[in-house]
Amino acid sequence: VRISDIRKSGDAGIDSNKIHKVKGWVRNIRIQKNVSFIEVNDGSSVQGLQIVGDKDTFSNIKHGSAVEAEGNLMKGEGKNPQVEMQLKNIKLIGDCPNEFPLQPKHHTFEFLREIAHLRSRGNTAGALFRMRNESTQLIHQYFNKNGFINVHTPIITASDCEGGGEQFQVVSTLDNKSNKQPHFFGEPAYLTVSGQLEAEIFASSHSRVYTFGPTFRAEKSNTPRHLSEFWMIEPEIAFIDLNDNLDIAEDFLKYVINNLLINCKDDIEFFNKRIDTGLIERLKKTVDNKFIRLEYKDAINLLKESKEITQNSIEMGDDLQREHEKYITQHFGNVPVFIINWPKSIKPFYMRQDDSNPNVVSNMDLLVPEVGELIGGSIREERYDILLKNIQDLGMDQKTYEWYLDLRKYGSVPHGGFGLGFERFLQYVTGLQNIRDVIPIPRYQNYCKF
Ligand code: 4AD
Ligand code: MG
Repeated sequence: VRISDIRKSGDAGIDSNKIHKVKGWVRNIRIQKNVSFIEVNDGSSVQGLQIVGDKDTFSNIKHGSAVEAEGNLMKGEGKNPQVEMQLKNIKLIGDCPNEFPLQPKHHTFEFLREIAHLRSRGNTAGALFRMRNESTQLIHQYFNKNGFINVHTPIITASDCEGGGEQFQVVSTLDNKSNKQPHFFGEPAYLTVSGQLEAEIFASSHSRVYTFGPTFRAEKSNTPRHLSEFWMIEPEIAFIDLNDNLDIAEDFLKYVINNLLINCKDDIEFFNKRIDTGLIERLKKTVDNKFIRLEYKDAINLLKESKEITQNSIEMGDDLQREHEKYITQHFGNVPVFIINWPKSIKPFYMRQDDSNPNVVSNMDLLVPEVGELIGGSIREERYDILLKNIQDLGMDQKTYEWYLDLRKYGSVPHGGFGLGFERFLQYVTGLQNIRDVIPIPRYQNYCKF
């Protein structure tokens, strides 16, 4: 049985005559005068199962080793009694030497990153990966319930969606050996920065689609919010305007967070206690209140009037720095804030130019407390002529985007969507400060160890 099932069943599940068997890793050993205890965890819940034996029962069992234990379940003692196991028999499956790097003490996150292949056996990473899994399931569930089709867009691509030129190029090891141009069978190819452009193909046939896949950015941003490889959720929807897009993003986030609060109660309580004591309150506030919607120009005016912005003064037309994002979410009482209708000059080529102001695009960034930008999205330019002009004005290779322009030739419709950075989302729902700690095996500048 999984230990979580035993814990969940509580009193009701206890049949003290029945022998149960669990398998897992030893987290804790306590030897007392007459009895001794070990805690075994199989990764299914924050707390493992306490196993009670005679004084010498666990003398050969070491912290970190894998065991199989058999015994009767019973209610423990103390103020808050938990289910525990009265040991009948224990088998060592995999021994663990004393120099096991993950000791039962406090380790820094920096150290744990150095042992990314072992850190998931600890409490914090353990809770995180359960929440990462549950979030994945809930995200698919939301879209499935709302008539979206999941499409798998390619990882290897010829286009540069965000136009930032910060892509990793795909190099064949064969070409490398023969000193040929580093190309994909003779053509340049890159790891995708976003599945959006390809998702638009399927929004133009299936109306509501989404992607959920890995994306890659070569930006040299050595920050707690950037990875070289991260996962993105990108819905793309036909026949919508910006208000619809905002409504969908808000409804989607609230659905996932609301259900996480229920389905991952123990893990969230763990994070609230150990990592960020404001976490649960912040998440409840997020699901209970309507997100603020603020025009970009009003955001800039707000920042200009503020006396607290000291480091980075800001002008109309500028992008927001981390300090500005922080100020805005705090100003509204630590709730999510959409900033809409940004200057066209600082946004990618595909965003739809506003009907009343050609210098503005119909888009949205969602800022959330602690994390900053969590979502970026827009209505897409569906008018052939304007899109073509954008591509030409930016000096992009028109041939590469011929297929994308075609979508505007044949039955073009207003459409839009957004991208949610999955790891930033996980930072938001766990309170973890560094994005490198919310992905199983992180890839960032100067780190690709295995
Ligand atoms: O704002 P971005 O660049 O938007 C897009 O890629 C659009 N094509 C999305 C769309 O409209 N379909 O990225 C979207 C989100 C950001 O808001 C952020 O949460 C996350 O992706 N993100 C990163 N997360 C981790 N590491 C990085 N280097 C990230 N860059 C962006
Ligand atoms: Mg963005």
